[in-house]
Amino acid sequence: MPRVLFVCLGNICRSPLAEAILRHQATEANLDVEVDSAGTGNWHIGERSDRRAIAIGEGRGYEMNHCARQVSSADFQRFDLIVAMDHANVSELVRWDGAEPYKIKLARSFDPAAADLEVPDPYYGGDEGFEEVADQLEQACRGILAHLRDHTA
Ligand code: 4NP
Repeated sequence: MPRVLFVCLGNICRSPLAEAILRHQATEANLDVEVDSAGTGNWHIGERSDRRAIAIGEGRGYEMNHCARQVSSADFQRFDLIVAMDHANVSELVRWDGAEPYKIKLARSFDPAAADLEVPDPYYGGDEGFEEVADQLEQACRGILAHLRDHTA
């Protein structure tokens, strides 16, 4: 079974939303995938996702039950694909103790229609930023699912 880890900064907005979306899409597609998410930062460890991320995710039918955690060195062994939201996440990840840089990709690199490869941090913005993030992640997750289908025996 392929294992995918989504990574953002706080693990309360973008990556838990991505986790819920990919899990939902994989279930619908009848594809077995292990999905998790984590943050490069440690400020929100143990917290539920941001209430705006939960509201938008649940409003679109996704199960938002992640508890925030920080990336660990063991993640680079456990996961086959580590999907970051922006270039800052990638910079942090490649410098992590135990990093496997070849496993690290940007989420929007899986969306052939994406002009900008970053999923912007919505934390300090309004609700519309979360809608935009959810739109971008739904498209990116479709691409990730297609990739997993093509690369899983
Ligand atoms: P996320 O958003 O990386 O998408 O979870 C953020 C959440 C919290 C903070 C920054 C970004 N923060 O600085 O606490």
